[in-house]
Amino acid sequence: MKNRIIYTLFILISIAVLCNSFVIENPYFKITKKDVKLKIPKGFPKPIYNFKKNKLKPDIFILGRKLFYDNILSKDNTISCSSCHQRIAAFAHIDHKLSHGIYAKIGTRNVPALQNLIWKDAYMWDGGINSLELQPINPITSPIEMDENLVNVILKLKANKEYVRLFKKAYKDTLINSERLLKALAQFTGLMITSNSKYDKYMRKQDTFSLAEKNGLKLFRAKCEHCHKEPLFTDNSYRNNGLKMDTALKDFGRGRLTEINKDYQIFKVPGLRNIEMTYPYMHDGRFRKLKDVINHYSNSINYDEKADSSLFRIGNLNEQEKKDIHSFLLTLTDKEFLYDRRFADPNMLQ
Ligand code: HEC
Ligand code: HEC
Repeated sequence: MKNRIIYTLFILISIAVLCNSFVIENPYFKITKKDVKLKIPKGFPKPIYNFKKNKLKPDIFILGRKLFYDNILSKDNTISCSSCHQRIAAFAHIDHKLSHGIYAKIGTRNVPALQNLIWKDAYMWDGGINSLELQPINPITSPIEMDENLVNVILKLKANKEYVRLFKKAYKDTLINSERLLKALAQFTGLMITSNSKYDKYMRKQDTFSLAEKNGLKLFRAKCEHCHKEPLFTDNSYRNNGLKMDTALKDFGRGRLTEINKDYQIFKVPGLRNIEMTYPYMHDGRFRKLKDVINHYSNSINYDEKADSSLFRIGNLNEQEKKDIHSFLLTLTDKEFLYDRRFADPNMLQ
């Protein structure tokens, strides 16, 4: 009898110990080789960013994830990449028209979603940066975003035991430098690939569309596809989609960079995947709802000399057509991507 009690106690304690180790090594945050294997979705073109020069490894991805969610990249340790790029919004910022940065400063543009970045030839609304690896230098050093500099970031990382451990695990030696920091971030953001929306499943014949969704797709192909080219829903070009310039912001788009006349008031065509989740819309976040966007294209295009000629083919949409296009846009939501555990905040308690 006594033996039996001791035996039962032993089993109970063992289970408790096992459960405890389970909590410490939470499988939710575990990254395996399989998790960082680059899979090009069927029908997608060849990526522009080349991971051969930044070989994907679980421990480098884990480092990138930690950095993405860490306030340490900002001057006063209050802002992380994820402050502006929220996972549930496909890494855009829900409900803020313009980005909110350090010292409560308001930026000049709407935070774009981060997705399918390795297919982009240039980043930002005006295409001002053409390297995924160099892109983070912009927010880190921007006085209204993170107001930090790379030398200081590296000093902070070197003084941080956890980062010393993570860099060593990732790169197998003790060197901590900005190249490694930027490459790790690019592994994390570069793998943010969305390709499992209802639209994708319909295209792969794994799902069906309602009549409204089918009509929406037809209308989309006739009126929007010219710029929002499938399967990425952008042709990577710069266009004016008939928005009147906000006279307070005076954002000249690509012209601000190039100072070439034809580039004034044109912006990079955004991909529309997960559009349901990335509101508000446009470079200045002027539209809160998808309905407002569709009404813009139907009723309030500003046909000045800047407006792209392909806008003429849209014409006035009737109420049914607007509803159908709306239904189609909702098929671009990819819950598998939005809830992909690989991109979750590792500091989050599960
Ligand atoms: C204060 C808010 C803020 C912070 C912090 C921030 N971003 Fe951004 N991010 C933006 C805004 C706004 C843009 C668009 C800027 C523009 O068009 O001029 C952007 C653009 C981008 C883009 C280009 C996306 C595209 O499709 O063109 C990437 C990639 C990106 N950010 C990654 C990061 C990373 C990595 C960090 C952390 C090192 C970071 N961001 C920190 C607001 C922020
Ligand atoms: C002439 C090219 C062109 C055509 C045609 C076009 N768009 Fe756009 N679209 C753009 C550009 C450029 C932007 C970004 C403009 C900006 O922010 O200044 C944009 C932005 C959007 C956005 C907001 C994206 C975001 O992340 O904020 C949505 C939604 C959208 N378009 C849907 C449509 C639909 C639906 C149609 C067809 C009815 C359409 N577009 C036709 C070029 C085009």
